[in-house]
Amino acid sequence: MTSKINVAVLISGRGSNLQSLIAACEATNFPAVIKLVVSNRPDALGLEIARQAGISSLVIDHKKFSSRSEFDVALNQAIRAADCELTCLAGFMRVLGADFIKSWDSRILNIHPSLLPAFKGADAVGDAIKYGVKISGCTAHLVTEQIDSGPIIKQAAVEVLDSDTKESLAAKILALEHKIYPAALKIICEKLLLLETV
Ligand code: GRF
Repeated sequence: MTSKINVAVLISGRGSNLQSLIAACEATNFPAVIKLVVSNRPDALGLEIARQAGISSLVIDHKKFSSRSEFDVALNQAIRAADCELTCLAGFMRVLGADFIKSWDSRILNIHPSLLPAFKGADAVGDAIKYGVKISGCTAHLVTEQIDSGPIIKQAAVEVLDSDTKESLAAKILALEHKIYPAALKIICEKLLLLETV
């Protein structure tokens, strides 16, 4: 395969999923290349991961904008200026507005630490532990205007042991995220490349 899909990755923190996407993209036959990493937080550890990988990165600090839509516009402009065709949310802790999402037409991917549609929202692992489920996992899905509700691309499940804490379960789920997120990105990029050839 010669052509690849240009990808932007949006982060807010640690960046372990960013790291797994970078590792996957290093394979010559992987259908994506990460062109840009954007963080809404200047102190995100993931920025250093991007730097070490030699990937362009930017901080677009949401606190410097007077409205969510102005932040979204700046973010959108940066991603498009980098010639990206697809955006991956990787621990990006901002809700994107409807205009932003519509303008990307099924070209935004997210990774969420639960088996959607169960446990949407910011504390999915804590909510799963509190509910007492015996199986949880993670979901890679397309982003739509309804939070954590878009079409599912990949899921992986893990057993929740009675001894599990929020932290231990999150760690088990994270290990699965690192496997399914690159796999989901591959699926979507291969589809986009097929579309480009018709
Ligand atoms: C992951 O648990 C992901 O599922 C959620 O945010 C966390 C990001 O972790 N959306 P990291 O920054 O990729 O390490």
